[in-house]
Amino acid sequence: MIIIKKTIVSASLLACDFASLAYESERCAKAGVDWIHFDAMDGHFVEQITYGSPVLKAIDKVTDKFMDVHLMVDNPERQIPLFARAGADLIDIHIESTRDVFGCLEEIRAFRLKSAVAVKPNTPIEEVYKYLPLCDMVLVMTVEPGYGGQSFMTNMLTKVSKLREYADKNGFSDLDIQVDGGVNVRTARLARNAGANVLVAGTGLFGAADMNAVCAALKGI
Ligand code: DX5
Ligand code: ZN
Repeated sequence: MIIIKKTIVSASLLACDFASLAYESERCAKAGVDWIHFDAMDGHFVEQITYGSPVLKAIDKVTDKFMDVHLMVDNPERQIPLFARAGADLIDIHIESTRDVFGCLEEIRAFRLKSAVAVKPNTPIEEVYKYLPLCDMVLVMTVEPGYGGQSFMTNMLTKVSKLREYADKNGFSDLDIQVDGGVNVRTARLARNAGANVLVAGTGLFGAADMNAVCAALKGI
């Protein structure tokens, strides 16, 4: 049976005013976003360094929103317990970042959190199939990880549709598929049609004149 999954909007704080994280989180909640997307970058797996578990802990204190943590770090196994204790609701690791993807997913689940794997644009989607029994979600990156404000790579849509088809045919129809990078109302429609249901938006939301309107439009896709 094919399940049509609900659209979930996850606001990426990467595009917000870092001097006002509490206010910005509240603004997202008021706009009606479903999740808050927290991009942790370590300066190794990707070039930039953003923020870590102490910052997540501070934000988690001021919002009830579901915290969707995207780890762009080498050796994510070291960070999982820290982020789990800091208030993550979901932890997403890159399969390119560790030799022990299974161990990481098991650890995330041992904390009773939702678990996910992410793939960079050059990683074939088939490489995630073996991890699906331990995943609630797969993140198909639609830009090279590392920076906000890039353009959505439409050639990633075939990865999304392949994954959706594979998941539905192999008993994983509950799987959430997330797209991240360059998501706006136009590209979100393409992603949704390909089978993604979790839409991460940074610049699309924080750069909008009317965040509430963009959020409503994304949720309506
Ligand atoms: C990129 C991050 C994304 C980024 C998306 O490495 O994983 O979450 O913040 O930002 P926009 O929506 O601006 O492309
Ligand atoms: Zn992200």
